[in-house]
Amino acid sequence: MSTPASSSRIAGFHKLPIAERVEAVARFAGLEPGECAHLLDTGNLPAELADHLIENVVGTMNIPVGIATNMRIDGEDRLIPMATEESSVVAAVCNAARQCYDAGGFVTSMSGTLMIAQIQLTGVSDPQLARLRILERKAEVQASCDACDPVLLQLGGGFRDLEVRVLETRGGTMVITHIVVDTRDAMGANAVNTMAEKLAPQIAGWTGGRTNLRILSNLADRRLARARCVWPLAAIGGEAVRDGMLSAYHFADADPYRAATHNKGIMNGISAVVLATGNDTRAVEAGAHAYAARNGRYASLTHWEVTAEGDLAGSIELPMAVGLVGGATKLHPTAKIALKVLGVRSAEALARTIAAVGLAQNFSAMKALATTGIQKGHMALHAQNIAMMAGALGEEIERVARVLVAKGTVRIDVAEAELKALRAG
Ligand code: MEV
Repeated sequence: MSTPASSSRIAGFHKLPIAERVEAVARFAGLEPGECAHLLDTGNLPAELADHLIENVVGTMNIPVGIATNMRIDGEDRLIPMATEESSVVAAVCNAARQCYDAGGFVTSMSGTLMIAQIQLTGVSDPQLARLRILERKAEVQASCDACDPVLLQLGGGFRDLEVRVLETRGGTMVITHIVVDTRDAMGANAVNTMAEKLAPQIAGWTGGRTNLRILSNLADRRLARARCVWPLAAIGGEAVRDGMLSAYHFADADPYRAATHNKGIMNGISAVVLATGNDTRAVEAGAHAYAARNGRYASLTHWEVTAEGDLAGSIELPMAVGLVGGATKLHPTAKIALKVLGVRSAEALARTIAAVGLAQNFSAMKALATTGIQKGHMALHAQNIAMMAGALGEEIERVARVLVAKGTVRIDVAEAELKALRAG
């Protein structure tokens, strides 16, 4: 008996070629031939590659890649590829960078490229003894971890540290082992997960407990990227603007409701570069938000203060687990080009650059919010989207958008009416 078109139980779906998967989805969802053809056009990501990156592929999702100009980082000019669907994000970085370019731009640093993997141990009657039993075997742990990845060792990476914590939980006392590994130019998830899985039975043997999870932590607080920058008072438009921005920061740092939005703006910039370079946006986002809450209250990822000269100084520090090797970074053709445009030669340089982008983004968001408001800049680009949704083509898009902005009503019904009037001459 064949599966009805309305069933989500499609046996062997994962084994089908892409075109047949699209046919099956089309039967289920009633897709038109044009919609199927659209899915099958995978653009600049070859279908075969897409099919190897994830499971059950039926198409690709194109996101615009823009270039942020004006960035000067550690004395070098950089063009920054950013993949985002959100208007104003690229412009925000360009604007912030222009206002600090003449003053020297951004200075960056990094705490290291260390990743942490956790091994959860339960059912130990003497957790403090277990903790010490594990710590005593640091040399064995190192040997076991390093044997997993000789290539990483050759590249100067490998096991660096062992930490063991006794954790009180709802499910009883647990003994949590952290292995700290320098993963160099790799994001490192595969490397540390392999090590943790190999080590787990040894830990169980040394302690008599049961190991459960063996997985990296996205709170990569041994891999902190930092950036700082001073925006001259004259460049930002005077004391009133500066003080408004400072007050915006104080608000964010004191209030989790505001901090979530403030940090979301920072991540607008950060995730766009992380995505453009084929890195894991969710890993970086999880790390950033966990770090923002590390003191028990969710707060701002950036800090802002006034220098002795009266200028506005911004700084950012956050976990930045990104790599140049592994995952989509080395496979996705757009990611490879993005890395070439960036011109970074190490994961560390990439991470530091991304931190600078986050700081720039935050500067622009705070400045817009503390002065004209965010909608003015947003609406100009949003109006173009609305014009396109109303059916405007070519030059019509800009003309309809301009009218929408001038009227202060960026709405689809207004756009449709304007387009109709424009076409009627
Ligand atoms: C919008 O995507 C981001 C902002 O809300 C950030 C912020 O409020 O700081 C503008």
